[in-house]
Amino acid sequence: MLGIEAKNIFKSFGTPPQDILKDVSLDITVGDFVALTGKSGSGKSTFLYIVSGLDNPTSGDVKLSGTSLLGMNSAEIHCLRNTSIGFVFQFHYLLPELTGLENITMPARKTGTHKAMEEYALHLMESFSVLHCKDKFPSQMSGGEGQRVAIARALIQKPKFLFADEPTGNLDTINGDKVMEIFKRINKEDGTTILFVTHDPDYAALASRRVHMIDGKIAEIS
Ligand SMILES: Nc1ncnc2c1ncn2[C@@H]1O[C@H](COP(=O)(O)OP(=O)(O)OP(=O)(O)O)[C@@H](O)[C@H]1O
Ligand SMILES: [Mg+2]
Repeated sequence: MLGIEAKNIFKSFGTPPQDILKDVSLDITVGDFVALTGKSGSGKSTFLYIVSGLDNPTSGDVKLSGTSLLGMNSAEIHCLRNTSIGFVFQFHYLLPELTGLENITMPARKTGTHKAMEEYALHLMESFSVLHCKDKFPSQMSGGEGQRVAIARALIQKPKFLFADEPTGNLDTINGDKVMEIFKRINKEDGTTILFVTHDPDYAALASRRVHMIDGKIAEIS
């Protein structure tokens, strides 16, 4: 199965170690659109960081497109994260000294394809209704605009996988709805596999599947 395969993931923090993820296994097929729900502290972010290679599990394995993240060195993970994985955080974390357009083309700059990417960046900005932010700095954008620019940045390399940790958590309903519309669209039109965390049942209902976590375990998949 080529998609996301998380197998028997355990994660513990602290001394003495406390188990935060307790034997979590989840398969996500290519093109799937999955919402991850659960109470605060149930382990959603921890799981998302592990399946996206931002953090290592204490034990267990994660495969993306059939390749285990655990066998990779940090340069290989970095390369994978730069090309196949997009990540959107609750707070957009745009670089304050760069304009909207520069923020989006940042990942492309590193790989030396900056010029070719600029056109695609402008296309993404237009389709997410933030073209007017191309020369603005993040401090001059609204929260919703900043988040849509951050989504464009996450998508600039046309990643197979998009991970998002409460992408609407810091937005009002109108802007939250816009983010979810974008997610639905890129999942449908580009076939991007999406795993996103949300506390909002209405947004979770938009996904193809819902994975509910309780106390570090998957309690229900619907
Ligand atoms: N680096 C860390 N060191 C110690 N404990 C941690 C660390 N990261 C997370 N935890 C603990 O792991 C548990 C799960 O945290 P996590 O951030 O995954 O929860 P969450 O489901 O994303 O919650 P929220 O909805 O509030 O974002 C929490 O009890 C948290 O305190
Ligand atoms: Mg969290």
